[in-house]
Amino acid sequence: MYKTFLLSAVLFSISTYTAVINSQEGVRLGIPVSEEDLSQFDLIAGPDGSGFPPGSGTARQGKEVFDVNCAVCHGANGEGTSGNTIIVGGDMQSEGPPLRTVGSYWPHASTLFDFIRRAMPAIAPKSLTNEQVYQVTAYVLYMNNIITEDVELNATNLAGIEMPNADGFIDRSDIQ
Ligand code: HEC
Repeated sequence: MYKTFLLSAVLFSISTYTAVINSQEGVRLGIPVSEEDLSQFDLIAGPDGSGFPPGSGTARQGKEVFDVNCAVCHGANGEGTSGNTIIVGGDMQSEGPPLRTVGSYWPHASTLFDFIRRAMPAIAPKSLTNEQVYQVTAYVLYMNNIITEDVELNATNLAGIEMPNADGFIDRSDIQ
C-alpha cells in the first residue's frame, strides 16, 4: 500500500516536472502585433496637415456627440466641472494666472482633433468614430467662437483653422 503510494507520488512528480519543462519550451509571452492593432496606435495627426483620416463633420452635428460623450465632465457648454476640464473661454492676457482652454491657449486645431481622437472621452478613449471626432472637434471650436456652426471640418481644412493663440508661442525648434 505504502509502496504504491510512494510510486504514484514519484510518478506524479515526474509528470508534473515534465509538464513544467514542456510548458517552458512552449512559453508564449504574447502574440505578434497585427496591422489592425498597430493602426490603433498610429493615430498622430499633426499641425502640418499629415495623418488625418477620411471623414468630415460640422459643429451642428457635433452637438449631440458632445452632449452624450463629453458634457458629463466638460459641462453642457464646455464650462467644465473641475479646474482642468474647462475647454471654453479664458484669456491669456488676464492679470492673474491665465485660464488656458482650447479657445485661449491651444495653438493648433489639428492637435485638438488628435487629442480628442486618442484621449477622449476620458472614460473610453478611441471609442468615437473618425466622423464623430470631426464633428465634436468642430463643436468645441464652435463653442469657442472660432468657427461657425456649418463649417465642415475635414482632412484638408482642419490644419488651416486659425486659432486665437497661434502666435502666443515662441518657436524654439531650432535648438538642438
Ligand atoms: C470622464 C470625464 C471626461 C469625459 C467624458 C471627457 N473628458 Fe475631456 N478631459 C477630461 C479631463 C479630466 C481632462 C484634463 C486632462 C488633462 O489635463 O490631462 C480633459 C481634457 C480635455 C481636453 C483638453 C483641455 C485642455 O485645454 O487641455 C479636451 C479638448 C477634451 N478633454 C475634450 C473632450 C471631448 C470632446 C470629449 C467627448 C468626446 C471629452 N473630452 C470627454 C475628462 C473628460
